[in-house]
Amino acid sequence: MDLAGISGLLTEIGWALLESLPPYREDEALALGEQLRQAGHDPALVAAALTQSRLRGAARGKFGPFADGMLFTATGLEQATRLSVAARHAQRFVSAGIDRVADLGCGIGADSMALATFDREVLAVERDEVTAAVATMNLRHWPEATVRCADATTTDLTGFGGAFVDPARRGETGKRLLDPRLGSPPLSFVLDLAARLPAVGVKTAPGIPHHLVPEGAEAQWISVAGEVVEAGLWFGLLARDGVRRSALVVPGDGEEASPVELSDTDLPTVGAGPVADYLYEPDGAVIRAGLVAQVAAMVGGHLVDPTIAYVTSPTLVRSPLARAYTVEDVFAFQLKTLRSWLRDRGIGRLTIKKRGTAVQPEQLRRQLKVSAAWGDAEATIVLTRVSGRQSVIAVRPITG
Ligand SMILES: C[S@@+](CC[C@H](N)C(=O)[O-])C[C@H]1O[C@@H](n2cnc3c(N)ncnc32)[C@H](O)[C@@H]1O
Repeated sequence: MDLAGISGLLTEIGWALLESLPPYREDEALALGEQLRQAGHDPALVAAALTQSRLRGAARGKFGPFADGMLFTATGLEQATRLSVAARHAQRFVSAGIDRVADLGCGIGADSMALATFDREVLAVERDEVTAAVATMNLRHWPEATVRCADATTTDLTGFGGAFVDPARRGETGKRLLDPRLGSPPLSFVLDLAARLPAVGVKTAPGIPHHLVPEGAEAQWISVAGEVVEAGLWFGLLARDGVRRSALVVPGDGEEASPVELSDTDLPTVGAGPVADYLYEPDGAVIRAGLVAQVAAMVGGHLVDPTIAYVTSPTLVRSPLARAYTVEDVFAFQLKTLRSWLRDRGIGRLTIKKRGTAVQPEQLRRQLKVSAAWGDAEATIVLTRVSGRQSVIAVRPITG
């Protein structure tokens, strides 16, 4: 969406048109557009309003009902922090007692909205003109938030106690950049900032290798509804005492559970051993943070292999930090043995999970020739290494 499109929507007529639209439906959009143009609306404005309506619909996953009062660009929405996570970022500044925060590379303004909601005075800096206009609109309810269209790397931060940086992570070709040193602004800028300001945070890709986590920073991996969405690096007053790595597991919208956190303050030593009655698959944020041993200790178990992120235990402990399965069988991986095992049990529907093995689930499925004629029983198998051997663990997911 270009500046003309956004500007059109910010006129009284444009905003009224956008607000009058019904919830977006792809199959009705063409007819609705035609109807609006027939009614005398400017075609460019109709196109902009329908695009915005579609983006609002798509934004509900990140912003819930707030999306209906916001504006978006497609890239801005894709890069935006979901509100539940932005609130976590903002809470760090609140806990550290930082009142004035600069949001450097603010995008459509999600993190700034969360900071302003927590009564912080926010300077939101965005170099892209259209995105800055969108952020201005999204922050209209908070007079203590100011949007400035400028380069964050040359912005004067005198008087600011803290800064949050969420760098753009797409290269020239549109390819995702996992290395924070290549983001815009780059990690070097953040490190320089952290040396000057008491409280600095930066959002990075979940795949950031541990060796790139700067000395003295706390790295926190966050998952939402089982998907790892980011690794935040927190410096100075925003890093918690003694915590280098932590994981925050946030439930999906509508789930009743509360977020759960784990950190490396007390890292147990856990060995590997035979598969017991229950198998645990730690949440991705826990794995990325390197805290699988914590989960093993929590469930009174051990690893199935020193190099694999599966935990096993004779006890069932329910936790959002790991998905639990009842173990039904364990045997060495061999195509023939596995096929007989499935056929003998009338398995017609098979879920294949794997970790630490080169086997490709879809290729294996073809080789196994699982047939509905075998029966309609269902099974889940985990292909992994158990004490160094390629093995099959047949499991049943524990639900609820
Ligand atoms: C990942 S997005 C920020 C998303 C934002 N945290 C949110 O939740 O909506 C990064 C933004 O930084 C902006 N940006 C990149 N380099 C910049 C710079 N040097 N100065 C200002 N903005 C910059 C990009 O235009 C992009 O909109």
